Amino acid sequence: MRVAVLTGGGDCPGLNAVIRAVTKSLLSQCKAEVIGIDDGFLGFIERRTRPLDWRSVSGLVGLGGTVLGTSNRSHPFNHQGRDHSQAVLDYAKELALDALVVIGGDGSLAIGHRLSERGLPVVGVPKTIDNDIIGCDRSFGFDTAVATATEAIDRLQTTAQSHGRVMIVETMGRDAGWIALEAGIAGGADILLLPEIPFSLDAVAARCRERAQRQRYTVICVGEGASAIGQSRTVAQIADDPSAPERLGGVAHVLRRQLEPLLGSEVRATVLGHVQRGGTPTAFDRVLATQYGNAAAQLVRERQFNRVVTLSEGALGSVELAKVAAGRRTVPADHPLLVCARQTGISLGEA
Ligand code: F6P
Repeated sequence: MRVAVLTGGGDCPGLNAVIRAVTKSLLSQCKAEVIGIDDGFLGFIERRTRPLDWRSVSGLVGLGGTVLGTSNRSHPFNHQGRDHSQAVLDYAKELALDALVVIGGDGSLAIGHRLSERGLPVVGVPKTIDNDIIGCDRSFGFDTAVATATEAIDRLQTTAQSHGRVMIVETMGRDAGWIALEAGIAGGADILLLPEIPFSLDAVAARCRERAQRQRYTVICVGEGASAIGQSRTVAQIADDPSAPERLGGVAHVLRRQLEPLLGSEVRATVLGHVQRGGTPTAFDRVLATQYGNAAAQLVRERQFNRVVTLSEGALGSVELAKVAAGRRTVPADHPLLVCARQTGISLGEA
């Protein structure tokens, strides 16, 4: 059996642990030949591969990033204005691949789904710090991102307190507020602003004033995709490639500029950015990534293709690629953590 592995899209703590587990599981359980594809789908288009064996994956469990490299500007169906999908499928045939394991977010898994429809047997592993994969309660990397963001909020708490200031901290998460929600609660933020709940500037200002009277300082945690009622989300940069997703970032600074005149005091903003994606995965993410890698290898061995491994209600399982490729999992309006936040005095910026 010959199996290729690639990591696609933005990187994420735990990717190397998945690569290691897929490889070790396939080597030990069916003596498969495992091939790594460099730089995600770009390496597939450009025919760049390398063998993966016991030695090349050893010591990877706690290493951040991905040893295979990744790319988020390499769509086989539209790369530099051309469709390369047939060339990719021809290359898979030349390599005599029995399966391709795609470790990626919704974008890479959607590509995997389209390739699977054209005959390439694909198994997906959900990857994103945003935790927004449909059918999956926990994607690996999320726990590490939450831990990093929580540590940052902890640090901002003491300086906000010392200066009696309003401090805004911005987390990643695009359309889903999971990182802001969990890190905000863990870090003791007073106001949580999520992409799923357009916020009222007046409500945010009112809570800051209330806090100024009572506790002197306020910590606001805002997800990068959040926006005030009637305003659009903050785009950091328009990418030159029209197929690339909007680059978000900077809502913390927009909010700072809007709040300062309303409060009549200085506000400070911190954008956490890519520190949330880099570095060593937590123990939880290492274990989850290892379980996901092993589960993906098992699906390959059982020839259960075109599925994505998942963790749902505490149990490992899998769902169809088509289901995952269809959208994103955002924070539902009735999520218990939102209820908990409201009941423990956190404002969600609601009007
Ligand atoms: O999808 C994960 C993510 O972390 C988003 O939250 C963020 O908007 C995006 O990656 C940024 O990715 P990049 O800078 O690689 O384009």
